[in-house]
Amino acid sequence: MTIALIGCVPVAALANDWGMGDSNSKIPPSSVFEPVSTPAHDILTVTFFVFAITGAIFLIVAGLLTYAILRFRARSGDDNREPPQVYGSNPIEFAWTTIPVLIVLVLFLTTARTIYTVQARVRPPDALSVHVIAHQWWWEFRYPALGVVTANELHVPLSDPKAPTPTFLDLESADVAHSFWVPRLAGKTDVIPNKKNSMWIDPHVAGTYLGQCAEFCGTQHGLMLLRVIVEPRADFDKWVAAQTQPPTVDASVAHGRQVFESTACVNCHTIRGTAANGVFGPDLTHLMTRETIGAGVAMNTPDHLKVWVNDPNVMKPGALMPAMNLGDKDLNDLVAYLATLR
Ligand code: CUA
Repeated sequence: MTIALIGCVPVAALANDWGMGDSNSKIPPSSVFEPVSTPAHDILTVTFFVFAITGAIFLIVAGLLTYAILRFRARSGDDNREPPQVYGSNPIEFAWTTIPVLIVLVLFLTTARTIYTVQARVRPPDALSVHVIAHQWWWEFRYPALGVVTANELHVPLSDPKAPTPTFLDLESADVAHSFWVPRLAGKTDVIPNKKNSMWIDPHVAGTYLGQCAEFCGTQHGLMLLRVIVEPRADFDKWVAAQTQPPTVDASVAHGRQVFESTACVNCHTIRGTAANGVFGPDLTHLMTRETIGAGVAMNTPDHLKVWVNDPNVMKPGALMPAMNLGDKDLNDLVAYLATLR
């Protein structure tokens, strides 16, 4: 776990932000200075401690420097002789070696203790576990005990500090190294191929929290965004119940479904109850319950879906989904079908 000292997640300022600027402006900024979960709180405490020590060092050094500059500045009437030259002083050299070593030791031990207390949290047997799989460039979220699979928007229940119900995340990568970071909830956790890392969060304020990949993972690393939606337990249970339903079947979009099932879509995407069972791309069974598409690149509207399906590179150059090159009618019908997946 890396202790994050950086202030905020930058919001991409794009010429055409596909509605994301509006949506993100309604979400409080992802500042590490406003933690709503125990690991993020613990990290902020260490951060202030480090600021206090390094701030004190800065004031002492800058103060002495200012004093020396003023006290010993050139004055008219100076005799221009060199001051007495001092070579070597055991007490001074001992002091300026020992004191910095002790300061570094204190900073190291304090940081190590925080890392240890955060990581030592034992997973209660009834804790919610979510399997996070990072892909170039999106996030897959699997809830093995609940039978839910979704993408880019992680739903977790609110945790009451008096009776905490933490959510544990087991993180793995399907391709290259990524890093999972939601500044208001916890520190960064590396997501590495062939290695399972884990972390936990216990958010005690409901709301939506923005996060992003924090490890350079290719051209679209900067647009590998995620949202964590923290809901009271009843709302979370309702969300789970809806996610485990089979997708809506709507006869008016049968042709769109046929287009979907007869193209390469099915090799990469799953829609439960259809021939589509690919796992390379996001599960689309309840696509329209998500606010965004393309890992936070655009608001999830039929218009944006149409642009995305026609050619994802328009929104996210380098995205690994190919342009589908469908005719107008097929494209419209396919999007109409996708728009029914609630
Ligand atoms: Cu994934 Cu950077």
